[in-house]
Amino acid sequence: MTRVFSGVKPTGHLTLGNYLGAMRQWAEVDQHRADALFCVVDLHALTVDHDPARVRRLSRQAATLLLATGLDPELCTVFVQSHVDEHARLSYVLECVATDGEMRRMIQYKEKAARERARGGSVRLSLLTYPVLMAADILAYGADEVPVGDDQAQHVELTRDLAVRFNQRYGHTFVVPKATVPEVAARVMNLQEPASKMGKSDDFGPGIVYLLDEPDVMRKKVMRAVTDSGREVVYDREGRPGVANLLEILAACTGKKPGALADAYESYGALKKDTAEAVVEVLRPVQERHKALCADPGHVEGVLGEGAEKARAMARPTVDAAYRAIGLLPAVSGAPAVALNAAR
Ligand code: TYM
Repeated sequence: MTRVFSGVKPTGHLTLGNYLGAMRQWAEVDQHRADALFCVVDLHALTVDHDPARVRRLSRQAATLLLATGLDPELCTVFVQSHVDEHARLSYVLECVATDGEMRRMIQYKEKAARERARGGSVRLSLLTYPVLMAADILAYGADEVPVGDDQAQHVELTRDLAVRFNQRYGHTFVVPKATVPEVAARVMNLQEPASKMGKSDDFGPGIVYLLDEPDVMRKKVMRAVTDSGREVVYDREGRPGVANLLEILAACTGKKPGALADAYESYGALKKDTAEAVVEVLRPVQERHKALCADPGHVEGVLGEGAEKARAMARPTVDAAYRAIGLLPAVSGAPAVALNAAR
């Protein structure tokens, strides 16, 4: 059976971009057709300036939202990255296979490092090594496919390179995974700044639709979206990025094609109105389930506890195999204390 792995990082409230670009696919398709794992990748949230209490809160919220999208613990494994030591264990070994040059070429590193420096902050070393930890997340589980939005494709490419390199040098250990990206809405753009991705924590707040925004707030954000000069509704990502973004959002919410939708509209106003309603409708069941799950936090904790146990059992053999392959001496458990003392 195909193995699928993906994750969300609790650095901010989850957005419509996260949902349409990745999470919806996990719940509607991936968990039903594959042996799938979905993870709140909290270690990744420590790579930029962070508040410990906020990361904890956002991790719990992200896990609750994963379940609210419809992920069913009977069908897939939902867990928190830091609950499974194998991620960090494997990450170090992969750092010994990756090069500093390839880390510095990662687009997200360049952008985020530049942003941190512009704010006068320092760049954490973990921001540079982040893609290696991401590779470890994926390779530890032998994932064949990694369903992500377009912005993560480069990191999955790097993961493939590291897997191939490790296998060539030290013997076949890892499955070489591939990214799967949705046909529409693989990169939902900020409604106020359609040249930038809709990120959880960027500087254009009014252009971000959060999964837990009140319906009226969502409607306002969509109605105030920046559109392009001109009046005709055409689907042209380069020339008319604002309108193209709305068309893609509407297409993703309704299952239609953005080009066909463009033909159906004569004004930006009507397009915005229908997009706003479509977004509210798509997120309504997620919000309702989220509310119900918040009333039962013990349930979410239970799911995460079982998920971590299952994940550990899946990752351990591969990570142990990688340790052996790269030349680390296997630990022998239960060696008598006398023998250990003698060895010293
Ligand atoms: P993160 O938390 O930024 O995003 C989670 C998922 O949402 C997708 N996404 C988007 N898709 C379309 N339009 C957008 N505006 C948009 N914003 C985000 C992302 O592509 C992603 O699929 N590095 C990852 C987390 C991660 C991971 C992993 C993912 C860590 N380890 C292993 C897969 C496998 C990240 O920061 O995602």
